[in-house]
Amino acid sequence: MFTTSDYHHRSTFTIHHEIATFSNMKKISLTGIKPTGDLHVGNYFGAIKPALELAKEYDARYFIADYHGLNTMKDPGELNSTIRHVAAGWLASGLDPEKVIFYRQSSIPEVFELTTMLMAFTAKGLMNRAHAYKAAVQDNNERGDDADAGINMGLFTYPVLMAADIIIFDSDVVPVGRDQVQHIEMAADIAQSVNANYGQAVLKIPSAAVQENVAVIPGLDGRKMSKSYNNVIPLFAPEKVLQKTLMRMVTNSQSVEEPKDPDTSQVYQLYKLFTNADEQAALAARYRAGGMGWGEAKEELFRVVNRELTPVRERYDAIMADIPALDKILEQGAEKARPIAAATVNRFRKAAGID
Ligand code: TRP
Repeated sequence: MFTTSDYHHRSTFTIHHEIATFSNMKKISLTGIKPTGDLHVGNYFGAIKPALELAKEYDARYFIADYHGLNTMKDPGELNSTIRHVAAGWLASGLDPEKVIFYRQSSIPEVFELTTMLMAFTAKGLMNRAHAYKAAVQDNNERGDDADAGINMGLFTYPVLMAADIIIFDSDVVPVGRDQVQHIEMAADIAQSVNANYGQAVLKIPSAAVQENVAVIPGLDGRKMSKSYNNVIPLFAPEKVLQKTLMRMVTNSQSVEEPKDPDTSQVYQLYKLFTNADEQAALAARYRAGGMGWGEAKEELFRVVNRELTPVRERYDAIMADIPALDKILEQGAEKARPIAAATVNRFRKAAGID
C-alpha cells in the first residue's frame, strides 16, 4: 500500500486557493524513469509493478527521464539504446499508453523553461543538502580530490529539473523508492516558495508515495537485488540464460534429504514473488518434509519465473523489433502531455509578470 509522506507547509501563511483550484480533478500520479541498462526482477517488483498498480486509481503520467540520463551517460549509442530499453521494458510489463501518458522528458521543452523559472526560487543551500550531491563531495574528500571533482551542474541542480518534471503536470503523488523522497520534498519546498511569493496557489504541492511493507527483493546471493552487487535476475534474458542464472543462486550446503526452512531461503523468497498462496504453501511443505535438494528447488523457481516472464520477454522482443513504432507511442504521449505542461508554465509566467 502507498502512503503519502507528510509534508509540512513551511511558509508563514496558509494558501486557501489550493483546495479550490485543484480539488475537483482526479488525483495525478507521476514518476520519472531513469534510463539504465538491464532492467531486472528487482526493478519489476520494486518499481514497475507498484507504479502500474497505482495507475489504476490515479491519472498516471510516466516518463523517461532522458535529460537526467545525460548527466551520467555521455556515450550517445548507450544513451540512445537505454532510452528504448526502459521504454520497451515498461510497455512490455503492462504499461498501457492509452491509459497512462507515457513520454520522453526531452520531448517537453516546457519542462526546461519551468526549470529555469524554478531556479529563481531555489536556494543554493537547499541543493548543497541533496544526498546525491553530498555523497559525491564526500567521495571526493575521501579520495583526497578537489571537492568539486567530476561534479557537473546537471548533478548539482538535478533536484530542480526533477521538481520541474513533477510540478509541470500538477502531480499529487510521486511513486518512488525511499532514496528519492528527499527530492520530492525539495520539489514541494520549491513550489511552496513560489506560491508563498505570489500569495496564490500557482503550483501544486506534490507528495512522495513510498511503498510500505515491501519485502526487499533478494538477489542471487541473498543481498538486495542490485546492479551494483552484480546479483540480478535480468528481466528479458532468453530462457536458457534465465535458467543458468537461477541455478547460480547461492544456497547453504544441506543435503537432499535434510528438511529445509523456506523462511530463511532466498530461493523460496523469490518463489513467493511469482506465485499465489496455494503454490507457496505447497512448496513450503516440500521444503520442510526433506527429500528436495536445492537443485530441484531452483528448478521449481525457474519454472514459475519463466512462466511469468515469458510473455513479458516476448512483448519486449516484439517492441524492440520495431523501434519506429515505439518512438511513435512516446511521441503520441508527448502530444498529450505538452498542452498540460504549457498551461502550467503559462500560469506561472502570468503570476510572475512575464506574459
Ligand atoms: N531521480 C529519479 C531516479 O533516480 C528519476 C526521476 C527523474 C524522477 N525525474 C523524476 C522520479 C520525477 C520521480 C519524479 O530514479
